[in-house]
Order: sequence, then structure tokens, then C-alpha cells
Amino acid sequence: MADLIVNPSRGLHGEITPPGDKSLSHRSVMFSAIAEGTTEISGFLAGEDTLNTARAMRTLGIQVDDLGAGRFLVHGKGLRGLSEPGGVLDLGNSGTGMRLLAGLLAGQDFFSVLTGDQYLVKRPMGRIAEPLRSMGAAIDGRSGGKLAPLAIRGAGKNAKAIAYQSPVASAQVKSAVLLCGLYADGVTSVNEPHKSRDHTERMLRFFGADVREEGLQVSVRGNQVLRASGLLAIPADISSAAFFLVAAAIVPGSELLIRNVGVNPTRTGILDALGAMGADIVMENRREQAGEPVADLRVRHRALRSTEIGGDSIPRLIDEIPVLAVAAACADGTTVIRNAEELRVKESDRIATMAAELRKLGAHVRELPDGMEISGNRRLRGAVCESHGDHRIAMSLAVAGLTAEGPTTVRDTEWIETSFPGFPSMLRSAAQ
Ligand code: S3P
Repeated sequence: MADLIVNPSRGLHGEITPPGDKSLSHRSVMFSAIAEGTTEISGFLAGEDTLNTARAMRTLGIQVDDLGAGRFLVHGKGLRGLSEPGGVLDLGNSGTGMRLLAGLLAGQDFFSVLTGDQYLVKRPMGRIAEPLRSMGAAIDGRSGGKLAPLAIRGAGKNAKAIAYQSPVASAQVKSAVLLCGLYADGVTSVNEPHKSRDHTERMLRFFGADVREEGLQVSVRGNQVLRASGLLAIPADISSAAFFLVAAAIVPGSELLIRNVGVNPTRTGILDALGAMGADIVMENRREQAGEPVADLRVRHRALRSTEIGGDSIPRLIDEIPVLAVAAACADGTTVIRNAEELRVKESDRIATMAAELRKLGAHVRELPDGMEISGNRRLRGAVCESHGDHRIAMSLAVAGLTAEGPTTVRDTEWIETSFPGFPSMLRSAAQ
């Protein structure tokens, strides 16, 4: 049980490059496995979640070579090249790993079982099991197939294209259906209430697939050939950069350059929200890598004011809400976050856990059914806080500790390894 002790900081300085994007890393190893040819990946996130996905692909018969320093070689076997796993596939803590892989496996002509850790087996899987069943897969699991472990008998040759109206704006649901759709005759489409991150669409196109978008609808034709197409360079994860964006924004005296960050517009809600709060963030050196926009982000401290966050913007910053709550606690006025009920089914119930932990630090937080109301600009005071087994809660509290009076202890921070190996040392060196 690792404790992280954070002392008040006199400013964050220098340049950092956070680790590779988690969403892109999961997809890179899955999609290159079903492409024809060998794909070299750089910037792959060597976190527990994504390494579990790489291991699962090996269990499905794919050669995945770890060349070190985030470089991987995946020897793709084409759309129908996966083989029946001889054991259970364990995705650890990762909802993305489990839900996307379930989509892929629902299209196969074999049987597989997916499981995860004590947190993942409590997260909702009915949202993918239901559409994947209507595509012809047989899916069972605890609670009638709503909870993992999930047993999947893939639809194989009987995979059916569907037009799916998703009740939630979830890239995991959308991706699971589209991946199964690659195995069906005809066109599979997914409609969602708000646009969720579009990494699957972009990366399938990088592999040469024809993916169509019309408003909130995405569609894919089945039986397309995916082809390896050179280096798949993954940028740093904006969700990891977010901890440093907020840290530098709230700690007086800070000026920090965060390099090589993915700035896909379906992920940059954090930049808009911090901008609305008055933060000084400048995007420099914009470029494109493997179909994804990338930039360097320069952030300087400036006093923040409250904001309101809700509606369409929620899927664009869903993973950043815990650390935005920290920014809100340091901002002038009352910040209101609504329409974010999805936070309750993340790695922890992030509304309840963040509200409880911020209160320990002296912040005024009112829990709402679908969000939080945070009255800012009180001086936080150091306390002993819990991660609740959630990497993003642990890192958000560490950021809060930088502006608190006295030391803050965050307990059980080993969960940070799922998405941001090296976070404590990167924070220490930037914030000294
Ligand atoms: C992800 C989608 C989001 C996000 C998660 C990663 C992805 O989840 O919270 O961290 O890579 O597709 P939902 O799709 O459930 O909203």
C-alpha cells in the first residue's frame, strides 16, 4: 500500500512529457492485431491497463514484441487471424480493455472469457452485452451478463450488422459495436446522445478502413481489410497532462511546458473549461500524428474563477472532472458540474469519492446526483486522503496537496500505475 506525501509547492517549472495516451494505446495493439502486416507503435503507455490489453492480444495468438521505451511491434494476422484463448483474459482495472475487447471477441468464431479486478467486476457491462447479443454473440456473466466475468461465444459467420441507438455517450460502447460490426455483412451504425471520443474512427481510418460519420452517427462496413500503414506514433495523454495543467494553473509562480499532448477536439474539454476559468494555457507547435492532432501546451499560473460545466461538454472532459474539481476548489466563486452521472460508474464513484476527499482537505463540496457544486477559494489544508482504488482520484488529490497548508498524504497510490507510471517523480521534479 503505497502512500504519496505531497508538500506545498512554490511553483511548477520546466518541461515534461506525460506518458502515452491510454485510449490510443489500447486501440493500437488491438487494431494492429487484426490488420494485415506488422505495425510499429511508439509512445505506447507502459501502464498496467494497456499492458494487460497487450497480454490479452498475445493470448489470442498475436505476436506482440515489447522493444522497450514505449516501442512495440505487433505482427498482425488480419481480420480473421485471432485464435481461441486457452485461458481467461484478465483486463485488470480497465473498462476500456474489457469493453473494446468484448466487441472484438463478439465477432469471432470461438469462445472466450473476460475478467478483471475487484473494481472492474462491479462496473456495468450490460451496456455492451446487450447490443453485442443483438449482433449474434452469446454473452453470459454474473447478474445475467451485466457484470464480469463475461463468457462470450462469438457470432462468427452469423454476425449481424445493426443500427444501434446508444443510450449513453460512451466511446467504449460505440467502439465495441463498431468492432463487432467489422465481422458482420453490411453496415453497422451507432448513434449516441452526445459525441464521445472518436479515436476508434480515426485509428480504423489510419489502417485504411472506410468509416463514415454523419452528425452523431458513425458507421462501418463489415469485412473490410485493415492494413498496417507505417509507424503508429501515440502522443501523450491529455488526461494525464490534465493533472499538470491544473497544478501549474493553481500554484502561484508556475510556468510549465507540457510536450507532445494529444489535442483531439473530442478530448480537449479540459482546455475549454480551464480557459473559461481564466487559466493561461497556450497551444504551441500544432501538428498531426497518425491521424490525431498533437501540440505542446504552455501553462502559467493565473487566478481562476468559477465556471459551469454540463451538457455536450461532459464527454469531452469526463476523465478530467476529478482534477477540475480541484481547480474549482481553488477558484473564486461556485463551480457547478451537471450531467456527469457517468462519473458514478468509473473506476470509483468519482462524484462521491472526490466530494468526500476534497472535504477532508477543507473544501466546500455539495454532491449532486449528476455532479458537484464546489465553493472555491478557501485555503485547503493538508490531510490524509484515500485513493479508493482509483488512479485519477489519487493524482487529483496529490495536485490539491500542492496548494494545501502542510503535508497531504494520499494512501493506496499504487493504482496510479494503471495509467501514469512515474507520476510521483514527475510531480516531484516539476513542483520542487
Ligand atoms: C474511454 C472512454 C471513456 C473514458 C475512458 C476511456 C475510451 O469511457 O472515461 O477512460 O478509451 O474509449 P466511456 O466510453 O465509458 O465514457
